[in-house]
Amino acid sequence: MSSQKQFPHFMLKEIYEQPRAVMDAIASYLSPESQQKALEDVRLSDEQIQQIRKINIVASGASRHAGMVGEFMFERLARVPVEVDFASQYCYRDPITEPGELTILLSQSGTTADTIAAQREAKAKGARTVAICNVKGSPITKESDGNVYTHCGEEVSVAATKSFTAQLIALFALAMHLGSVRRSLTAAETRQNLDDLMALPQKVQQVLETDEQTKVLARQFEEFNSFMFLGRDISYPIALEGALKLKETAYIHAEGFPTGEMKHGPNALVDENLPVVMILTRDRNDPEAAIRHEKSVSLLREVARRGTKVIVLANPDDADVRQAASHIIPVPSVLGLLLPVLEIIPLQLLAYHIAVLRGVNVDHPRNLSKSVITE
Ligand code: G6P
Repeated sequence: MSSQKQFPHFMLKEIYEQPRAVMDAIASYLSPESQQKALEDVRLSDEQIQQIRKINIVASGASRHAGMVGEFMFERLARVPVEVDFASQYCYRDPITEPGELTILLSQSGTTADTIAAQREAKAKGARTVAICNVKGSPITKESDGNVYTHCGEEVSVAATKSFTAQLIALFALAMHLGSVRRSLTAAETRQNLDDLMALPQKVQQVLETDEQTKVLARQFEEFNSFMFLGRDISYPIALEGALKLKETAYIHAEGFPTGEMKHGPNALVDENLPVVMILTRDRNDPEAAIRHEKSVSLLREVARRGTKVIVLANPDDADVRQAASHIIPVPSVLGLLLPVLEIIPLQLLAYHIAVLRGVNVDHPRNLSKSVITE
């Protein structure tokens, strides 16, 4: 992968390391030699996996957004109910933990104080814990019953980028493993999902090729002081993550909403001063996705009629979107559960370029740190 010299900032370097990070993560879970090691580290026997009745995912910041994507993966692939919580809120709930619950702690650094506190609370209540973490030997990995490592190398920039996509791959691999042990996936589904996974690094590379286009968009949008991000279904957490990137790196107010919630309030905010970033990719294997997509396109037309500037992420052959929007970033088609891995990349690039244009110290934004070690 390219050396630091070629990139003006770590954030851009780390965004560009994602094809490699995704490839390494996939290899570490799927190659026969490393798979055995990965399964040993996770320390869940087939019997324990069959007995899981609920999964709690607890995390902070970008890691929590990855966890929200994981919710869809575990529910669809392993048919286990999932609850996702802010680590900073978890302890205050006096959470109810029943036998057969698994608590997953997601953390890039493994040192986030809120996540450690939540881990201790879950363990005290008798939950089995698995950490998904990028740093071997970090406090969270030492205290958990089992670990899944994200293998994406050191991440320097405060804003999480490659660690986020690596977490998505780890969640997908774990959900596939649970699904196959619990027999909630057919052999044909497993094969199809793995084929899509193997094709992913190449598609991540393809999305990076939209960088120049994203830079042009950044110039057109850098002066706005507020943005709205919309995503439906599994793309909603990506709307939240896109908004977080813009807040963290460019100091711009940004909110993420589920597209379907627009008519329940956020629609009132929309005018020519509030650009909207809409994630409008679709899962071609899911017949119901077409109906959801049509609803989103009709919202896109309505918002565009009001003079709002809209940036749309869509599959390249989407004629309906092409007719309705002027700023489209193409995202290749892939299995619906893997779409978030591709969708987040243009949003990371958009935040990065706007931040640079606004003169922000993008790798070290004010008031933030890479590892938050106090609650
Ligand atoms: C801080 C960082 C974020 C990160 C969050 C969680 O707030 O600035 O980028 O997402 O911590 O960190 P973790 O290491 O637990 O994933």
